[in-house]
Amino acid sequence: MTQCTVQLGDRAYPIEIAAGLLGQTACFDVLADRPRLLLTDQNLARLHLPRLQATLSLPDDSCLIIPPGELQKSWDQAERLFDALLARRFARDGVLLTLGGGVIGDLGGFVAALYQRGIDFLQIPTTLLAQVDSSVGGKTAVNHPRGKNMIGAFHQPIAVVADLDTLKTLPPRELRAGVAEVIKYGLLGDAAFFAWLETHLDALLALDPAITAQTIAHCCQMKARIVAEDEREAVGGGVRALLNLGHTFGHAIETFTGYTEWLHGEAVATGMVMAADCSARLGWITPDIATRARDLIARAGLPVKPPAGMTVEGFKDLMGHDKKVAKGQLRLVLLRGLGAAVLTADFDPAALDATLAAAVA
Ligand SMILES: NC(=O)c1ccc[n+]([C@@H]2O[C@H](COP(=O)([O-])OP(=O)(O)OC[C@H]3O[C@@H](n4cnc5c(N)ncnc54)[C@H](O)[C@@H]3O)[C@@H](O)[C@H]2O)c1
Ligand SMILES: [Zn+2]
Repeated sequence: MTQCTVQLGDRAYPIEIAAGLLGQTACFDVLADRPRLLLTDQNLARLHLPRLQATLSLPDDSCLIIPPGELQKSWDQAERLFDALLARRFARDGVLLTLGGGVIGDLGGFVAALYQRGIDFLQIPTTLLAQVDSSVGGKTAVNHPRGKNMIGAFHQPIAVVADLDTLKTLPPRELRAGVAEVIKYGLLGDAAFFAWLETHLDALLALDPAITAQTIAHCCQMKARIVAEDEREAVGGGVRALLNLGHTFGHAIETFTGYTEWLHGEAVATGMVMAADCSARLGWITPDIATRARDLIARAGLPVKPPAGMTVEGFKDLMGHDKKVAKGQLRLVLLRGLGAAVLTADFDPAALDATLAAAVA
């Protein structure tokens, strides 16, 4: 088992990573005998909830089961969950457990952040994306029709328990979407890891146990370090903002497609191709780095072009709503090298125009 820690003083918490954790009581010791409710979706309820219920002796009426999908990450669904918690008289000493992907983790964390001004929650991520990214770091949110993750809060979990066995039931398309966020870590901050992925991508896609464990541990260590340094994504542009490589373009794609057709990781994949393309047009990276990024993303079976129907103007309008906009200026995470991302508003807008025009052509 790998364990890493997110170092946040008295709010520090462990990330446990291994196969079979849902069957092991030890990694849930932090719950002690506190009251608990679990949030999950219908897919997980069918596939993995029974094992966890047995481990935690969790009765059915302590499990809140909602439909799967990004559309559930909504204010309406959060309100229904507040109702459910209040109806059960769930008190502040309780812990909310979230079993699922980023949707369940973001939504459950958001509810935990607001309910009675904040209760504890514990993340049990079951998608690759959630295990390498969304379950760690305390960003919680719901979507607004005008933009992704627009309503949210920072609220750190008390622990993260990532059982690698859960990935075996993940639909292949969801696995590939998670690989997008894995590639992101290499591109933004670790050239050696990017090169390692070029060698081991096929093993990762085949869920080779050793390669998968190594990948997830490496990504969690990177994320834990970044979060410890810049927990709340300092507005001036702290290191955490770099985790949004590809996301400003990607969020525009997700909003354009109504959060339904494209998976988050797929949109981010195309966004990273566009960020690399823009960086190359600016002369900040050599064209061969942009090509390597595009090739690895394509090899992972991820899209490298935005959906038909998107236009340069449409992109710009949607990107203008992004949280990375400051003082009316669009800021982008771009590359100054392989593994060397920067957040900046200081770029020639003609390069962005050229990237958008080439992408939608
Ligand atoms: N908080 C953060 O820092 C952060 C970071 C990255 C992404 N996110 C958010 O994460 C969300 C995407 O998360 P996701 O990609 O995990 O999607 P998801 O939560 O929608 O899960 C994807 C699908 O896979 C199913 N599923 C989950 N685990 C499964 C398993 N083990 N076996 C079979 N099916 C399973 C789910 O039911 C769902 O249908 C987005 O809303 C994104 O904004 C948040
Ligand atoms: Zn993401």
